[in-house]
Amino acid sequence: MKQSLILAVAACCLLAGCAAQSTSDNLNDPRVEKLLKRMTLDEKVGQLVLFTSDWSVTGPTMRQGYIDDIRAGRCGNIFNAYTAEYTRKLQEIAVNETRLGIPLLFGYDVIHGFRTIFPINLGMSASWNLAAIEESARIAAREATAAGLHWTYSPMCDICVEPRWGRISEGAGEDPYLGSLISAAMTRGYQGEDLADPATMLACVKHFAAYGAPQAGRDYNTVDMSERWLREFYLPPYKAAVDAGALSVMASFNELDGVPATANSFLLKDILRDEWGFKGFVVSDYTGINEMVKHGYAADEADAGRLAINAGMDMDMQSASYFNYLKEQVKKGEVSRKTLDEAVRRVLNVKAALGLFDDPYKYCSPELEARETLTAEHKAFARRFAADCMVLLSNDGVLPLRKGERIAVIGALADSKDDLLGSWRGAGEVQSVPASIVEAIREANGGNVIYAEGCKETGNDRSGFAKALAAAAVSSKIVLVIGEDCQWTGEAASRSDIHIPGVQSELLRKLAATGKPIAVVLLNGRPLDLSEEINYAGAMLEAWYPGTMGGFAVADVLFGDVNPGGKLSVTFPRNIGQVPIYHYAKNTGRPYVHPAAKYESRYLDVPNEPLFAFGHGLSYTRFEYSDITLSEASFAGDGAIEAEVSVRNAGEVAGTETVQLYIRDLVGSVTRPVKQLKGYAKVYLEPGQTQTVRFTIDRSMLEFYRQDMSWGAESGDFKVFIGGASDKVREASFRYEE
Ligand code: BGC
Repeated sequence: MKQSLILAVAACCLLAGCAAQSTSDNLNDPRVEKLLKRMTLDEKVGQLVLFTSDWSVTGPTMRQGYIDDIRAGRCGNIFNAYTAEYTRKLQEIAVNETRLGIPLLFGYDVIHGFRTIFPINLGMSASWNLAAIEESARIAAREATAAGLHWTYSPMCDICVEPRWGRISEGAGEDPYLGSLISAAMTRGYQGEDLADPATMLACVKHFAAYGAPQAGRDYNTVDMSERWLREFYLPPYKAAVDAGALSVMASFNELDGVPATANSFLLKDILRDEWGFKGFVVSDYTGINEMVKHGYAADEADAGRLAINAGMDMDMQSASYFNYLKEQVKKGEVSRKTLDEAVRRVLNVKAALGLFDDPYKYCSPELEARETLTAEHKAFARRFAADCMVLLSNDGVLPLRKGERIAVIGALADSKDDLLGSWRGAGEVQSVPASIVEAIREANGGNVIYAEGCKETGNDRSGFAKALAAAAVSSKIVLVIGEDCQWTGEAASRSDIHIPGVQSELLRKLAATGKPIAVVLLNGRPLDLSEEINYAGAMLEAWYPGTMGGFAVADVLFGDVNPGGKLSVTFPRNIGQVPIYHYAKNTGRPYVHPAAKYESRYLDVPNEPLFAFGHGLSYTRFEYSDITLSEASFAGDGAIEAEVSVRNAGEVAGTETVQLYIRDLVGSVTRPVKQLKGYAKVYLEPGQTQTVRFTIDRSMLEFYRQDMSWGAESGDFKVFIGGASDKVREASFRYEE
């Protein structure tokens, strides 16, 4: 079939700010002003207090007596409590037993699904599929709101080029452009058109800001970077979520330029409020206010609270600093009444926008909860989406597997339902996972599977090797499932070593020595050093932690029922010594171009290139790219040109390709990256089909923070690159005149 379709892709108005949603525009409910007039100091402070229930543990401290605090009107917000029944019980206390009956706000970490769990966020981002990402957030909101929740601590917008950091798994990878599209899509998914709709929930943009850049990858560690780098590469995804209408923001644990984000008025006032026009409220992270004492920024917990609220921190998560000291500080004038009222007003207005003053119980319906939880539709979507997120890192032809041949499935992770869910799994439960990977492969393959554990993910027990080798000996192919225990990613899960742990790689080598073809399936939440494994595995499929339906999704891809189309949203280095490594690096004054040169920017022991570049991902088919055709060789001012390529499916099966566009500004008033992602399009092609993909290049794609920190483009020569990965591109040149 020879067919040519044209797909035109317009530039996205990221930094210009896309239209915010209606909810953010009317945050001045008259009932709030009336209430404010009636509230005592204690009642006001109570609205700025957020305590955890004892249902989930997501931080270092717990607090007894939160129910009494609610009853006393001294705690207006609760997190880590859910189910329609339990939230109703707490809500009844707030509404019926406090003087003013102000409803509680219920928050929870709904990060990649609530009951139906989707792939971890790093995996989601590898789909580059904004509609699906938005849909996953919408489903999560439906399930969570039916369980009484109003507020999710998501999207996590932290750009990260640091695989040692366990929380890289929670974000959208390294790229500010892709990350911005994703954070906006998630915000739309959670908040919908109208926050008052009981199936939508309040989003929380976190962790503001630059939490993804801890020194040495150790969680909570110091962050320091130039303001230019911060603004260009770290802030855009937070801003995109704010522009999409998110009405809450969580400050990060880290310091930035010596000031903890929790009390950083440059972040919370100058950027968030004054520059971005944020109208919602800011919450601290878990005990973030008190932690400023240990940071060495506040003398004691009272001082920490005063510094935080005066810097723009509206709500105190779990520190009890506002709870214990704020009232007195207001009385003494250390915190002004205006500052207090402003913070309370913001919180109450968001409660009003959620519809809680109209009906505080609108989210607490056990019937709805039963109906909306883990529906067949949600699970079917989760299965498709999980397959969409998988990245085929390498393949010598071992994949797809043929149904019917005998397969040895090996590895403890193949038999683990728990690990499929990843960390931050909301209220996802192992009992809801219908199949582990080995069970799903068995089902797909008519039972013709031999399973052996081989070894665990950690430790050095090799006693299972013999059984694994025996299973391999009587099979025609091996599927080896290896990676990290899911609790090795997420919060407080940094590693100094990014190899596959334990003796799993040794098992791979032993299995490879049998000569049987091996497909490795990886479950992990960070870029790993796979330099050795790639030599032994015929194919490597990055499955992340794929969620509730992940077992089936892995089988779908292994047998070719789904042709994988995921692309890495983060660079996979050759070893930890290359870190940080990312595709928007600068050229340096001595780029490495001469193989034998000494004084060039290079390593003596590894190439400069990563093992797998940003944007990399194979398919069971091949895509061929034409050269780039530009509509004009130059453009000026508000004009635009078009860059076009033809992409042909040159293989035997249908597949989806993600066509990526990168730009380089050759000379700038400050140096520019050698490549920066500025657009992409996903195209589905039948075998033999060709599609023309056309990108519009306009000034917005050329803009950056110039030497004087103004935002704009500069005249000069540019390169445009288009291809299926950041390291596999065609290029062309154009000129731009301001
Ligand atoms: C995490 C946040 C999370 C919060 C509430 C903190 O430890 O850093 O991401 O939203 O706990 O559970």
